[in-house]
Order: sequence, then structure tokens, then C-alpha cells
Amino acid sequence: MKSFLPGLLALAMVACNPTPQEKQEKSMTTTEVAMETGSDPHSYAKAEAKVKHLNWKAEVNFENKEIQALAQWDIEAQAGAKYIFFDIYDLEIDSILVDGAKTDFALSTFDDHLGQGLRIPISDKAKKVSIYYSTGDDARALQWLDAEQTADKNHPFLFTQSQAILARSWVPTQDSPGIRFTYNAEVKVPSDMLALMSASNPMEKSDDGVYHFEMPQAIPSYLLALSVGNIEFEAISDRTGVYAEPSLLEASAYEFADLEKMVQAAEELYGPYAWGRYDLIVLPPSFPFGGMENPRLTFATPTILAGDRSLVSLVAHELAHSWSGNLVTNATWDDFWLNEGFTVYFEHRIMEAVYGREYSEMLASLTRAGLQEAAADMLKEVPNDTKLKLDLEGRNPDDGVTSIPYDKGYFFLRLMEETVGRERFDEFLKNYFQGHKFQVMTTEEFITYLKTNLLSEEEYAAVRVDEWIYETGIPDNLPAVESDRFTKVDEVLASFMNSGSADIKATQNWTTHEWLHFINSIPDSITAEQLAKLDEAYAFTASNNSEISAAWFQPTIAANYEAVYPKVESFLVSVGRRKFLTPTYKALLGAKQDQLARDIYKKARPNYHAVSRETMDDLLKWEE
Ligand code: BES
Ligand code: ZN
Repeated sequence: MKSFLPGLLALAMVACNPTPQEKQEKSMTTTEVAMETGSDPHSYAKAEAKVKHLNWKAEVNFENKEIQALAQWDIEAQAGAKYIFFDIYDLEIDSILVDGAKTDFALSTFDDHLGQGLRIPISDKAKKVSIYYSTGDDARALQWLDAEQTADKNHPFLFTQSQAILARSWVPTQDSPGIRFTYNAEVKVPSDMLALMSASNPMEKSDDGVYHFEMPQAIPSYLLALSVGNIEFEAISDRTGVYAEPSLLEASAYEFADLEKMVQAAEELYGPYAWGRYDLIVLPPSFPFGGMENPRLTFATPTILAGDRSLVSLVAHELAHSWSGNLVTNATWDDFWLNEGFTVYFEHRIMEAVYGREYSEMLASLTRAGLQEAAADMLKEVPNDTKLKLDLEGRNPDDGVTSIPYDKGYFFLRLMEETVGRERFDEFLKNYFQGHKFQVMTTEEFITYLKTNLLSEEEYAAVRVDEWIYETGIPDNLPAVESDRFTKVDEVLASFMNSGSADIKATQNWTTHEWLHFINSIPDSITAEQLAKLDEAYAFTASNNSEISAAWFQPTIAANYEAVYPKVESFLVSVGRRKFLTPTYKALLGAKQDQLARDIYKKARPNYHAVSRETMDDLLKWEE
């Protein structure tokens, strides 16, 4: 990592090779001071002065993998305010002006998770803060891809991932989910490339590589996003469409053909879509998440291009965030379940509306099994992280990204739905979203709202709200999920385990979810020989469905079914989606294949985004 340089040393280094602008700024001094975080333990921003609007002017330079930019912030200061505080991570600050006048500033000592606080002296009349800066080599939000790491292999690519606290590595910002601002931007990129942001977007390339963006709805900084590459657009409906590299565009448009139906289903449930257009971009395979709900433009992994539309619940999830998360936002990362639990609930409701209850109950059943397994593991290692309300102070908020906020959150909401009935629950949720739009929510405020607007005392006690939110583990009133289709899957698997012969006929019309349930239910006692028989009958190793591959790696690695290893390797080298990487590397370690895991990781690591790299470095005890 490029280490933090105390101000004077940084200036001395700048002085070795000054640019004209730097020469002019040489008189500027910075100091290093101690700084406290504000009410959000993951941000140095304080209530005394807050940002309101960002005017961002940037140039994206692929040669030296750097963004040079001016972040011009409109701010609002409280009476008596003396400073405004920003968050930065490995940014090189060239100069800062307050209402046009150059000013000195102070930085806090570097913290591994938080980066640095940037303290700028202001008067309480101050209106504009202009920060000239460039990104560093360790900009954790940015992934700069060489042409070979893209689908088409002829242009480089850049994408950002700001959630949870990485926006500060490409924009000096008040990087707390509780602080919202509008923005506009002018971005210059190489002229054969398209730039897209979480804002109004171009549909085709400009001649000069300059693009203008506007985001008139206020967003928190974790929703700032940028993507640059050889990208094309195809419309799906008047207000939805898909962006992808040319070779993936047709497949992407096919896969997401139901986008408009999903938006309509969502609107019918919980009120109008508030963001104008809803588009989706299919990113290169190193994108560390399945999807990211950047407003107006969901970022998605190409691993959901299954060819049969079977993995589109991920799109329903990111779309649902347009209400849960983007409209009503968790106040801090300790309240993360308010974003994700509500979104998983809403996702299931969209899937039910578009594809039917039988389908959404298969999804719910997979979710339930995954939750129980994850919670059992976590109770041994990190029991406190099985509470819905987290305590992440002093930790990386990324530690809170587990099944708990997602799936325990989902079942908590489902339990309330089942307790009060769907009609009352839907009315409640609709009012919740509409009544708190563009606002933040804490867990405590939510509980108060729940008591006032939904649950009677008896219902509150029956649901056991406090236990769900503040205690570890999964309460024993976890809702049950019935899936007849999965019961049939259980029978086919049981018959194979008993007889040794794989039924082909019974599985002919199975969907991805039935196969996932089948693979996930394979008992630990299975042998490599039995796995070979299954593989022969059902061709799991050869599957092009990423979910099926990742699921299949579990029993096969555990039983040392060697025929799967070449696939494991090619998968891990080409895909950077953390949800697949973590269990697969864990399975290798669990099967005492440490050396194989490390050999593969050595090849794969350069392809991974910093977010995935950090997790795998920890898991594999990797030292650079
Ligand atoms: N907002 C998350 C991704 C995220 C969470 C990034 C926390 C960084 C920190 C996104 O909506 C998400 O949940 N993605 C899931 C999708 C899935 C649950 C359908 C993913 O990436 O797997
Ligand atoms: Zn989510």
C-alpha cells in the first residue's frame, strides 16, 4: 500500500517533480492532527457543516490509472461552525479553496479502514469548498482492468464500487450513509470510450470523450458510481435498458427482457419509482458483487447471464433497493439490515408478482437453508454478528456483509407479514417508504415506527421483535417455507443415495433452483465415486450456470472428486464475485487442499477487485 505521508514529506516529494499547478501551490501547508469521528463511527463528517451538492469535474487517465479531479462542494454550515470535515483515502490533495480563497487544511493520521479525516477551516457563512486532487495507487473503490480482463479484450475498463466506505478513495466526500447530496459531473475519458454514472446517462459515445451527468435526487456517497469502457446500450422499454460490452449486449438484453415488468410490479407494491430511468450495466467478471444498486444504473456481474433468465432475482434485488436503501437509507452501517433485509423481502415480492408464488417460494427455501447454515457457523466464531443491529465501530463495515442483515432481516419481515396479514403489512411498508423517502432510518426509529403504525402490543410480543433485532442466533419462530417442488427434489436425491442410480426422467423439467436445492442437499457422506455418477448423469461440472458451478464445488471439493479441479481453477481465475470465491476457497482449505488453493490464488489474485482481494488475503493468510 502507498503509505500515508505526513504533510511536509508529501510536499517535499511533490517538490521533486512539480507540475505547473503544483509549483503555484507550493506555499500551501498541511498539518496532521488527531480527529474524532462524527455520529457515524465510519466517517469524520460532523453535523456542524454538511455538503449539499457536488459539482465534479474529472479526467480519467488509463495510462497512469489515475483520476484527476476537482470536487466542488456546495455546503451548509451551522451558526458558529469553524470547520468542515471530509473523508479521504489515499487521495493526493493539490489545493483547497473556500469561496475562491486558497486555504490550509489538516489531515488525521491514517486509519486502515477509515483513511483520513480532512479538516478545512471555514466560517459559518462559507458556501463553496473546492478540492483539487488526484486518486492514489491504492484507490480501493476503483478497479482498472487491462483489455484482456474484459469480455471483448480490446479496450481497458474502469469501474467503481463505493459501498460501504470506499467512495472516499475516489472523491473527497462526507462518506456517511446519513448525509445526502445532489450532483452533476463533467467527465473526460479517452474518446473511444463511454462513461456512465449513477445519474442521467448518455446512450452513445460522444466524439470527444466528454460526458455530462446530473443526479437531481439527493443520494448518500456510497451510491456514487462511475464506469468507463467500450460500452454500448440497448433499450428494453421506454425507461429501462441495458449497457454492456458489444459482445455481451445481445445476451444481456435477452436475459433482462423482463426489466420493465419488474419495475411495474415493484411500483404496484410500494409506490412510484422515484429515479427516472432504470438501466443496468453488465460489468467484467471481476466485479466483486452480484449487483450494486447504483441509482438509475444497477451494476451487475456477468455471472448472472445464465442464458435462461434463471438468475434474474438479483435484478429484482437491486431494483428493490430503489426503495429500500436508496429512498430510505440506513443511518449507519450498524443499521445495514434496514437496507438489505427490506430489499430481500421486496425482492421476493417482486419475484412472486412476476413469476408466481411457487417460484418465489423456491427462492425463499434456498434463502432459509443458507441462513441456517451461515448462522450456525457464525454463532461459533462471531456470535455478535448474528444480531440484526450490528456494532461495527472500529471494524471494517464490510464485516457486517453476511447472511444476517439479508436473510435474517428477510425472515423477520416475513414473520411480521404472516402475523398481521399481507394487506396490513403492504399498507405499512408503502407508507414507510413514501413517508421517509430521501431520509435516513435508524433501527431504533424503525422500532418506534413499527409500534406506532403496525404492531399492537400483543403482536409485538408474539413476533418477539427485540429478540430478532438485538439477540444472537435465529429465533425459533422463524417462518417455515413449503415447496412441493423441492420435496420432489428431495425424493430424487434420496433415491439416488439409496439405489445408486440417477433418475434422468424425473429431472427433465427442473429449473436452476431445483438443481441448486439438489446439490445443496447432497449429504456429507457422499463419496467421489457417487459424485462421478451424478456428474455423468447431470453434467454439473460442465454447467455454464455460475450458481450451479459454485454450489457443485462444495460437495466435490469436500469429497476430493478430482475431476472438478480444472473447472474450479478456471472459475476462480476468471470470476471475482466474492460470494462465489469465499465458499470455494474455504472448501479447498477445509479439504486440506491449501497448496492448491494458494497456487490458484496466485494466478487469480491480479484479476480480483480490492474488496475481494482483502477478504481472500485474510482467508488464505496471504502476504504480498
Ligand atoms: N448493496 C449490495 C452490495 C454491497 C453490500 C456492496 C455491502 C458493498 C457492501 C447489493 O445490493 C447486494 O446485496 N448484492 C448481492 C445481491 C444478492 C443478495 C441478490 C450480491 O452482490 O451478491
Ligand atoms: Zn442488496
